[in-house]
Amino acid sequence: MTPELFTSIQLRDLCLDNRVVVSPMCQYSSKNGCAQDWHLMHLGQFAVSGPGMIIIEMTNVAPAGRISPFCMGLYDDKTESALKRVIDYVKSLADTPIAVQLAHAGRKGSSRAPWDGGTQLTAAEGGWQTVAPSAISHSSSAHTPHPLSKDEIEDLVAAFASSAERAERIGFDAIELHSAHGYLLHQFLSPLSNHREDEYGGSLENRMRFPLEVFDAVRACWPDHRPLGMRVSATDWIKDGWDLEQTETLAKELEKRDCDWLDVSSGGLSDEQRVQTGPGYQVPFAEHIIQRTDLTIMTVGMITEPQQAEDIVASGQADLVALARGFLYDPRWVWHAANELGYDFKYPNPYLRCAPGNRR
Ligand SMILES: Cc1cc2nc3c(=O)[nH]c(=O)nc-3n(C[C@H](O)[C@H](O)[C@H](O)COP(=O)(O)O)c2cc1C
Repeated sequence: MTPELFTSIQLRDLCLDNRVVVSPMCQYSSKNGCAQDWHLMHLGQFAVSGPGMIIIEMTNVAPAGRISPFCMGLYDDKTESALKRVIDYVKSLADTPIAVQLAHAGRKGSSRAPWDGGTQLTAAEGGWQTVAPSAISHSSSAHTPHPLSKDEIEDLVAAFASSAERAERIGFDAIELHSAHGYLLHQFLSPLSNHREDEYGGSLENRMRFPLEVFDAVRACWPDHRPLGMRVSATDWIKDGWDLEQTETLAKELEKRDCDWLDVSSGGLSDEQRVQTGPGYQVPFAEHIIQRTDLTIMTVGMITEPQQAEDIVASGQADLVALARGFLYDPRWVWHAANELGYDFKYPNPYLRCAPGNRR
């Protein structure tokens, strides 16, 4: 019998051959927003290894939306052609579906790469003015962001749509909107970062307005047959912050809009978070949403073992399982999972002889 992890799933016209997704991972290896040779290797290794889908790293809709000066962008012709070169190459290797994660870092922008400490850059160091729903910083040592005016919010909605049009020209199979991990869309959702007094703040309905406007604008220009999903943080892990109940309300709004998947992560809004990690620690959030909506649900976070992933899908806790660090550590995770679960996986022809059953 085919393990549930290796059954296909349909998202509009896109068929994913299995339920394993490469989770988006910032590489801090772009130049002026442009993808580099590093990305050929980084994404190429995953494409030939047969995941159901690859979601490429947080790709920003404006220069000021980058976390760091080394983050990827999709906001002008140069960033578009640099990313097209990479995606054309990766697609020449395998027909693995590829999604782009469109994002804006908001108040978490203008930062150093994590391996340089991740703290924010001053203007003299090449940093920039960050933006947010309100003039509230991410931590006591962080920049105070510029609170966005309504016109600026409108411009950002248009920027997401414009990047989606670029994504279509590049040939991406799907888009995931990044509304998690304390970046701009999440900053609007959380009552801790959004103290606005206009129609973008206050009530839950108002705090959801900007992310939903972005969703609607992208959906309107993204071809109907191509799927559009969203990543959310199910909780801020902070008292009186964004929580699972509000996530459920957002999920129901997205369901009304025919959102194609919800990728349920958590945290990232503030240094005050107290995250309780452990194997599959975010699976209960996914399970909560899957039980209350008809959305296709992706779970992520400390899922490392094939049987663990199989159990999540087989028991209906989530439809899709995403791995990040597990794929960096073992880009052939899918092959190894297939072997462990007794599934005869189709290797690329030049690598057929390495399959355990073929080493005679
Ligand atoms: C190197 C690295 C970069 C990441 N960059 C992103 C990103 O661009 N967008 C995003 O939503 N999550 C990002 N994440 C979070 C992962 O997608 C994932 O949610 C998290 O690592 C938990 O999954 P894991 O335990 O399988 O690593 C990143 C994680 C890592 C390790």
